Amino acid sequence: MRTQVGIIGAGPAGLLLSRLLALQGIDSVVLENRSREYVEARIRAGILEQNTVDVLTEAGMGDRLHREGLEHRGIHLQYPGVRHTLDFPELCGRRVWVYGQTEVVKDLVATQLADGPPLHFEVSDLAIEDVDTDSPRIRFTDADGTPQVLECDVVAGTDGFHGPSRAVVAEGTRQQLWERTYPYAWLGILAEAAPATDELIYAWHPDGFALYSMRSPSVSRLYLQVDPSEKIEDWSDDRIWEGLATRFALDGWEISTGPVLEKSILPMRSFVSAPMRRGRLFLAGDAAHIVPPTGAKGLNLAVADVVLLSRALVRLLQEKETDLADAYSDTALRRVWRATHFSWWMTSMLHTTGDPFDAELQLSQLRRVCSSEAAARELAENYTGLPY
Ligand code: FAD
Ligand code: DHB
Repeated sequence: MRTQVGIIGAGPAGLLLSRLLALQGIDSVVLENRSREYVEARIRAGILEQNTVDVLTEAGMGDRLHREGLEHRGIHLQYPGVRHTLDFPELCGRRVWVYGQTEVVKDLVATQLADGPPLHFEVSDLAIEDVDTDSPRIRFTDADGTPQVLECDVVAGTDGFHGPSRAVVAEGTRQQLWERTYPYAWLGILAEAAPATDELIYAWHPDGFALYSMRSPSVSRLYLQVDPSEKIEDWSDDRIWEGLATRFALDGWEISTGPVLEKSILPMRSFVSAPMRRGRLFLAGDAAHIVPPTGAKGLNLAVADVVLLSRALVRLLQEKETDLADAYSDTALRRVWRATHFSWWMTSMLHTTGDPFDAELQLSQLRRVCSSEAAARELAENYTGLPY
């Protein structure tokens, strides 16, 4: 098999890259080790920045997003006794959308399988070779068990945090890694319950952080800060709803409950690896960086990488100019570090540590964001996504 761009991983980064390249007349093949069902059922992010919505719309992927996505003009920040609304359009002229990552992936997969470049699920034994030459290749075994070789001009490593691409970059570059693991995790639930709030609620509480989000007018997505050593088996639905009711408590307001459809515990870390390139292998999305979820940047950052990478590859493969490809890693990392700082800052402001000094600093910061337009605007600009 031969293609221009061999893409490893059918997450949002790999699928969107394939789509953006196809629209520019560049062919690609996407290789994914999981099944279509698995990839489409994985529950992850829910908030799309304005930039992400614009990119998906321009790529012809906006139909269902505009029909079913929920446009949001702000968030509520809560601490005991106070629920304050930040109005994003007023603060920075931008807004965000609630549309699950699973829906984005379903839309991209359906389009690709209908009339897009090849997309192979359930491949195994994938190996990347000769990335320091102009003709790298990917070896893999297809779903039928047949060994295959994919000859490429470029390989895109969009294989997430656990994929093989980042290690291949490490072998041939002076790779630098930065990592922070946080002493808390999120317990997330998806519930068949109409959201009891118009906007997302980010709540600070002495018991720990809680986040009230949603997926549709009848499905809520909620998160509780828990210790990373907690086991999901120890959290009955009743215990979860009790924790949520306590942390979101406000006079005259009540949480709405319903059957829990899914629950899991998510670890939280910041992670950045540089460079995001070795020769003809380019990393994008979680393959190169992870942010903690507070601030909803992970998926949006993957989309920003891919927009930049698609432009660099069009220039490299069609115009034979290397300037954008050479600038890719440094340019992408500037946005990565901005999102890394914002996510760390939101995480640090909202998650209790058990230290009373930390708690007073957090409450002071929250009061500042809720009383100063300058402080609120700084949050709003980062949350809705800085322009590309
Ligand atoms: P991925 O979505 O991870 O896609 C990578 C793909 O590569 C996967 O399909 C994987 O199966 C495939 N792959 C891996 N190895 C191989 C291989 N050897 N061969 C072939 N294919 C391979 N972000 C937020 O903003 N808000 C959230 O609430 C949030 N929740 C999250 C919850 C979880 C449990 C996780 C893991 C992430 C969450 N994120 C969240 C982050 C967000 O989902 C990611 O930033 C986003 O998925 C990144 O997209 P990606 O395409 O780079 O990586
Ligand atoms: C969701 C996740 C986030 O990390 C966040 O900051 C907001 C919403 C969500 O899954 O809906």
